Amino acid sequence: MPAVQVKPGIYWIGVNDRTTDLFEGMWPITSEGVSYNAYVIDDEKKVLVDMAKDLKSDALLDQIAEVFDPAELDYIVVNHMEPDHTGVTRTMHRIAPKATFLCTKRAVPMLAGYYHLTDQVQVVEDGETLDLGAHQLQFHITPMVHWPETMVTYETTQKVLFSCDAFGGYGALQGGIFDDQCDDQAFYERESLRYYANIVALFPKPVIKAIEKLAGVPIDVIAPSHGLVWRKNPARIIELYQKWANYALEGPDVGVTLLYGTMYGNTEQMVEAVAAGVTRAGVPLDIFDVRHIHTSYILPSVYTRSGVLVGAPTYEGELFPSMAHALDMIARKRIANRKLAYFGSYGWSGGARREITEWAEKLKWDLAEAWEFQGGASSADLARGEALGYSFAQGLKGE
Ligand code: FEO
Repeated sequence: MPAVQVKPGIYWIGVNDRTTDLFEGMWPITSEGVSYNAYVIDDEKKVLVDMAKDLKSDALLDQIAEVFDPAELDYIVVNHMEPDHTGVTRTMHRIAPKATFLCTKRAVPMLAGYYHLTDQVQVVEDGETLDLGAHQLQFHITPMVHWPETMVTYETTQKVLFSCDAFGGYGALQGGIFDDQCDDQAFYERESLRYYANIVALFPKPVIKAIEKLAGVPIDVIAPSHGLVWRKNPARIIELYQKWANYALEGPDVGVTLLYGTMYGNTEQMVEAVAAGVTRAGVPLDIFDVRHIHTSYILPSVYTRSGVLVGAPTYEGELFPSMAHALDMIARKRIANRKLAYFGSYGWSGGARREITEWAEKLKWDLAEAWEFQGGASSADLARGEALGYSFAQGLKGE
């Protein structure tokens, strides 16, 4: 894609990644893609803000060259060290030999560790400003959004916030880079929530703290390093991030995530009955087959909804392995304070119910009911399943 002017003297020079299947090696983006947005500022001092994964380096350099010769760079701002933004560090160091890398103190050992870069590294302090000529940068340290060394950079004259991971999302850019050029904003908002739940959700307090810290900063453009550049309505993505962070602090919405796995369809038959009960109670419901659906897509639902129904059989005396994997990922993301109920089929002895009790303790979730039935459900069993779904959902409403 060609360089795109964001504001006078400020250009987007990002690259789309439609090649990587698993972001961070674990989160599927095969069909959605992702962008690594970087920016240059063309002034008396020439600046590159963030870089990209070590992919399409030529395209990135060509885009910089549309604005100025990369060899002329005076500064390279490293807002965040994760290699999706720094993979081309060694290349940039070679091509822009006079450029100074600007980063937080905590990023210094990371630059040395990842890229053996120890010279031409300059630490910036929180609130420090840097005059470029007509433009001015101000650095705001925002630890744990997403790593401990992270900062955001604010261009004070044009009011552009280069927020790196913060306010970012999955989804390659589709021609236009701005929110007002996008005719499917719902896609980017959905993919921003998935990104948030996958990548950032473990750190809600730092997200809130960062938003509060920037509250007094007038912002015309949010220019993150993934996804849309928000110039028409930058408040929208801030509001969404605030709402998502608040789920962890103030509690989720009333709603049910029904996770299930099945070996021969017996537990799946019960899923239908339980789901009917939830729906009869009028509570929103998402259903995921954990055998086929990656936890990346499940986490946003579990993160935003107050109840989790688990339907899975016993396998070799224990919980169906695909379900154990899904619960393990949820536990790793420390999604606490949910209400849980379990149902599942067994062949000759139970076992999943015992393991679910252990998962509830580990997750710090309130286990409302755990019910095993042998083989295929009878009509009485199905009626009990429907009642389970109804009473569970009613309980979430406080009724
Ligand atoms: Fe986009 Fe934490 O890296």
